[in-house]
Amino acid sequence: METSAAILARRSVRVFSDQPVSRDLLRSLVEAATWAPSASNVQAWRFCVVDDPALVRKLDMVSPGLSGKPPVIAVVLSDREYARAKGGQKAADEFSSLDAAYACENLMLAAADAGLGTCAIKSYNDDAVRSLLNVPDGLQVELLISLGWPDPAKSPRAPKRKPLDEVLRFNSCETWGAEETSSHTDAVTSQADDEGRTASCAEQSRDAIGAEGKARPVQTSLSEAMSASPAPQQETTQPSAVAYETAFHGSLSAAMAAASAAAGDPPHSAEEGTDGLELLAYMVTSAAGLQGEPAIYGPLRLIESSKRVAAQLADSLKTADPARAEALRNLATLIAERQNDCMTDEDSFYAMLSEAAALLAKAL
Ligand SMILES: Cc1cc2nc3c(=O)[nH]c(=O)nc-3n(C[C@H](O)[C@H](O)[C@H](O)COP(=O)(O)O)c2cc1C
Repeated sequence: METSAAILARRSVRVFSDQPVSRDLLRSLVEAATWAPSASNVQAWRFCVVDDPALVRKLDMVSPGLSGKPPVIAVVLSDREYARAKGGQKAADEFSSLDAAYACENLMLAAADAGLGTCAIKSYNDDAVRSLLNVPDGLQVELLISLGWPDPAKSPRAPKRKPLDEVLRFNSCETWGAEETSSHTDAVTSQADDEGRTASCAEQSRDAIGAEGKARPVQTSLSEAMSASPAPQQETTQPSAVAYETAFHGSLSAAMAAASAAAGDPPHSAEEGTDGLELLAYMVTSAAGLQGEPAIYGPLRLIESSKRVAAQLADSLKTADPARAEALRNLATLIAERQNDCMTDEDSFYAMLSEAAALLAKAL
């Protein structure tokens, strides 16, 4: 595949088949990652590729932003201590995240070239991931990348991109003032735009590449990939707020550790949300992750949890009370279909919440 075609064909994939990915292929993807540029060629990036199904499942359980049950999760880290020793403080604090982002993009493009699907995941619980993978203190987890063969029936559409004129200037940046920022086209999308849509990747590539088979100018920017460093925490100067926050995080970490310890090796359930422990881990890590994430993720995580409970209840009631089980199953389906509208169409999201309440009433 031409590089420009791979750039346009890569999509965040959130539905995977069960088919395993060979170690040889995984090694080749990481090798592609290591050919990314790095400041002073420090190469502080590290890659922990998780393909043990039990461990993948546990990582999934503590990563509310991850979906689609991927067979592999590539965990990209940077060795901050090594970066500091080799390249100084800036290398540790700033460049290692940038370098890791370049490596991630290389990995994802190489995966797209091989026909694999990937999705960058930042909504994971850092404490839990560190604990599950025994990450030493000097290393920072930069990004999780879910990886697997995409489900061909559920290929994602390309989410909108901002018009080039909005994000490109030559020679001066001064017209990017505060007023202009507020009127910018909102091209922010997430799984919302991607899930459940049926356009094939080939169709998208054709569209992007053009009927004549020539690649159109690439209109993507790497700015999002460059922002892989953790979102800044909200600043608060009130001592009581700080104390509260510390206590809140302490209790979440304790709950997380308990959930993680209790996880053991529970049997894998094919149906999402049929396992109480999975739900518990989702709720705890969601609560821990919400600070610093967009406010709308709160209702999203809550309704996602409700969907899992509804699916679980529907399963347990299917023999004893089929009518109620069906109402609950319908509720879970409605939520699954519309929950991510919160990213692109809040009105539709809130309308869905009303419909969900009405459906729920039927199951009471
Ligand atoms: C730093 C970073 C973090 C992301 N975190 C998540 C995440 O937690 N969950 C998710 O489903 N997608 C995540 N994404 C994927 C973006 O939502 C996606 O790249 C964007 O919607 C554009 O879609 P595309 O990748 O198909 O072009 C992340 C992407 C980046 C670059």
